[in-house]
Amino acid sequence: MSDLLRPEVGCALVGARASLWQSWTGRHAEVSAAALRELEEGSPLWTRLAALQMVGEVDYPRLWVARSRLPLYLPAERTLWYPLPSQRTAGGHRWGQRVFSVDQAALWEATLEQRPVERLAARVGLTVEEVLAWVRGLTGREVQVLQLRPAPAHARDLSLERLVAPPRPVGRRPTGQLGAAGETQLGAYHQDLEDPESHFDDRETTVAHALATPHQALGGSPYGARLRARLELRGMVPGDGLTVEVGCGTGELARDWRAAGAPARYLRVDRSPALLQAQARMAPGSLGVLGDATALPLGDASVDLLISNEVLADLPAVPWPETSPHPEVEDRIRRYGLALGPGWKNLGAWRMVEEVARVLRPGGWAWMSEFGALDEAPQETEQLDHPEVSIQFGDLRAVAEALGLQAEVVRLDDALGMDLGARWVARSVWEGARAVASARGTRLKARAWTAQALEAALGVRVQGLREVPLSEPGPGPLPTRFFVLVVRRPVEGAVDLGAGSPRACS
Ligand SMILES: C[S@@+](CC[C@H](N)C(=O)[O-])C[C@H]1O[C@@H](n2cnc3c(N)ncnc32)[C@H](O)[C@@H]1O
Repeated sequence: MSDLLRPEVGCALVGARASLWQSWTGRHAEVSAAALRELEEGSPLWTRLAALQMVGEVDYPRLWVARSRLPLYLPAERTLWYPLPSQRTAGGHRWGQRVFSVDQAALWEATLEQRPVERLAARVGLTVEEVLAWVRGLTGREVQVLQLRPAPAHARDLSLERLVAPPRPVGRRPTGQLGAAGETQLGAYHQDLEDPESHFDDRETTVAHALATPHQALGGSPYGARLRARLELRGMVPGDGLTVEVGCGTGELARDWRAAGAPARYLRVDRSPALLQAQARMAPGSLGVLGDATALPLGDASVDLLISNEVLADLPAVPWPETSPHPEVEDRIRRYGLALGPGWKNLGAWRMVEEVARVLRPGGWAWMSEFGALDEAPQETEQLDHPEVSIQFGDLRAVAEALGLQAEVVRLDDALGMDLGARWVARSVWEGARAVASARGTRLKARAWTAQALEAALGVRVQGLREVPLSEPGPGPLPTRFFVLVVRRPVEGAVDLGAGSPRACS
């Protein structure tokens, strides 16, 4: 590497790519290793990097100070919280903290507006050298808080909203979660939960869990109440019939569903004894039964409405084609005319639809939501601590129709009439707030927090609680990645998918 790059420019080689980092300005660029080796003063690459103030003579006092939008700041404690780029877990980045002196706190406040270093120094009554020394502590590869730039940054400059960090690690796969043929088997995962109350906050947050408190996105209702209202519009909610929820998590949906309308028989089926107990505490009056979604402990033609949210991806999926034959998969592909392409096959989800066809009464309905796509091959989510596989809803609908059910696939946001423009805090804010809360000895639930509600929950004034629309990453999964299979067992001779049904996907 040329001497021009020392001492302020560092370089990390990853394969043929090099991430070039100017540790005094916080500016960075990806450059091919070959180009870097040939970097000469005056070359086109040199000119480009010089324009970014990464090489050559840099007039530091005249550079503008721009703040990253990721950190959180607690003015009362003069404490800055920031994500640690190289420390990443399945749940997000770990966060570090730095306590400022009174002078440094004044500097931080003054960087809210972009200014050149020398004007910043004049504003807070410090020398340029003192300001530069402070800035240099906040521009490194591990502390990506400030950047020095030749001109003010554009309001939506993405480098101030993203970390330059190693890729997300692939989740650990304990033995037992994959069978001999590579199929997912998550039976033990929910059965042996260590802490059912915090599981959906720290390890796998669902859409229903994130929206289990009233939210503007759902017209001011929590998920369970909104779901009931929408299914009532479609004529799917039985008066005094039997409603069954399969895979109920901690039972918030059951609680809010039951509170939103006339009490009716509500049965919870789950294969986790610990979660069944948590559900009973959350939704007293509902009845819980230990059982499997692929072999429901229910009589034939006994259910008026079956609800299931984010369970299908937990059911066994089989990699295809296999090294050895898998008669169950082969049989169903042939019987139902399913997609033949290579990739994962949602065998457990197909089995659950077969069970639904068996237990629904004529005229009975089912709602099954999960992340996935209509026709794309299922994918394994790698960041979770267990291998969930997305659902190919086109195949699921084909199974339902082959079994004589009326079936449609709808988008979850459409089906719930969700306002995707409603706001929640950005994903990074949620991760930072969780770290702040934990340092203060409290735990936060993984909810679709607004900035105001989150600040109230933290009990301290926090700067940087950025909100984004629900169509951008926040505390819960992106609702736009979810679909619902809605099925009805026909009353003989009648074909009716209900009035007010949301737009079906074709
Ligand atoms: C990802 S959680 C979803 C919880 C809740 N429905 C929600 O949306 O927040 C999956 C739930 O399904 C249950 N579950 C997983 N596999 C199951 C199976 N094979 N049979 C019955 N329940 C199952 C789990 O115990 C858990 O309650």
